[in-house]
Amino acid sequence: MELISTHPIKESDLGFNRTLFGGKLLYWLDGDAVAYAMQYCDTPRMVTVTIDKCIFRKAGKPGHLIKIYAQVEKIGRTSLTMNVEARRHNVYDGNQQVILSTNIKFVKVDEDGNPIPIDEKVRNKFSIELNNRKMKWNNLSGVSDSQIKERIKSLEEEISNSPDADPRDAFEIRHWKEEIEFLKTQLNQNKDE
Ligand SMILES: CC(C)(COP(=O)(O)OP(=O)(O)OC[C@H]1O[C@@H](n2cnc3c(N)ncnc32)[C@H](O)[C@@H]1OP(=O)(O)O)[C@@H](O)C(=O)NCCC(=O)NCCS
Repeated sequence: MELISTHPIKESDLGFNRTLFGGKLLYWLDGDAVAYAMQYCDTPRMVTVTIDKCIFRKAGKPGHLIKIYAQVEKIGRTSLTMNVEARRHNVYDGNQQVILSTNIKFVKVDEDGNPIPIDEKVRNKFSIELNNRKMKWNNLSGVSDSQIKERIKSLEEEISNSPDADPRDAFEIRHWKEEIEFLKTQLNQNKDE
């Protein structure tokens, strides 16, 4: 995922409990993600059509930085869907914990607000990015089975140590699981060869 913005938590961002107000976090998420979508799709006219379920897992507190991460997951005919994650960042030790992660879907519109297709150029860029993500995993030439097993073990540890190990909406965890699945397939293929 790519870091797209950082927000210090100010007094005016706090709710009644003196922790980060949820509405403020959603404002940042939607605003930062739409800016990213505009840049990604080469147009200032992107509108939010859906925000998936949002579970606030941790509270943001004064002194934390809120870091927003995003990754484009899907491009439809007129829409772009992004995984967006907000993490609270402790400046003293660099520790980060996920506050919430969700999917936001944006639609490209014309000047009258009607949906229009995403450019072919953008589609190509996305398909190259997807290939690069896959290649990151596929580039296993010269990597021994024991190294692959080691990687699987460390990913499994990351998952079980994650304080936010809820498979429903922790995208990082989902990506780790996908990588484990891929590595296990690779090990089985090596066995057959
Ligand atoms: C977004 C908007 C332009 C879509 O208009 P629409 O008439 O539903 O358009 P379409 O049916 O052609 O759908 C356009 C895209 O939106 C997606 N979409 C529309 N409604 C959706 C829904 N309820 N859930 C998921 N996706 C939806 C469609 O899948 C389609 O994507 P695709 O082309 O990639 O397949 C319209 O709903 C709108 O203007 N909404 C307000 C946007 C806004 O102001 N957002 C800020 C929040 S206040």
